[in-house]
Amino acid sequence: MRGKRYAVLAAVIALVSGASPAGAIVGGTPARVADSPWVVAITTPDGQLICGGALVAPDKVMTAAHCASVQGIGGRTPRPLEHMRVIAGRTDLRSAEGTTAAVTHAWRHPDFKEVTQGDDVAVLTLDRRLPYQTIALGEAGESGVVLGWGRTAELEKPAMSLRKVTVPILSDAECAAKEPDYRVGRMLCAGRGGRDACTGDSGGPLVVKGRLAGVVSYGRGCARPDEPGVYTRLSHYRSTAGF
Ligand code: ARG
Repeated sequence: MRGKRYAVLAAVIALVSGASPAGAIVGGTPARVADSPWVVAITTPDGQLICGGALVAPDKVMTAAHCASVQGIGGRTPRPLEHMRVIAGRTDLRSAEGTTAAVTHAWRHPDFKEVTQGDDVAVLTLDRRLPYQTIALGEAGESGVVLGWGRTAELEKPAMSLRKVTVPILSDAECAAKEPDYRVGRMLCAGRGGRDACTGDSGGPLVVKGRLAGVVSYGRGCARPDEPGVYTRLSHYRSTAGF
């Protein structure tokens, strides 16, 4: 009896979470840092995944503002710098491959409050220059590749090994129709279900034609049918003080 009930529950969860059979980021495939040397993980000092990011200079990481913040009862406050590490060159976070850096400064967009209000962008300064290729900023296009070490489905644990997935980038009209909080110009949205970023992928790169066009910001669940993920549109922030 109990077994059957759990089976029904599991099926319902799979339905509402839009869980896709192929694991992923969600719906993606394994990736290697050797092919994307600028992708970095942001972890706690004891190695728990916080977010992703991208090296935009040897000692600068572009990520989401919410990654450099902690949610308390009174709202978001800056995450203490000593609680963050940046790891580069490590495909599997359970290995010792690559290099770890500490964070000496975090610039968060001064208007950032909530992910749904936009301005979800931050730049971390590292305590050393990392010996990996950096990525230049670019514009959105028809599709992009999103990379991360995060969950492969809403109810999974983080993959901890790098994955990537190609997602279609939608028009502003379509994004605004699907996401009530969508801010034209400052955000972009991508995905039509089945393929998406998920928890732990935040701050990570959306790459269009080899350039960094967005950082993972938020979504309603992950990869749900017809639901896009929302990204900070970096081209809007290029001239903002701080980077
Ligand atoms: N906020 C999540 C994080 O902190 C990432 C959300 C992205 N979700 C999505 N469905 N695209 O890792």
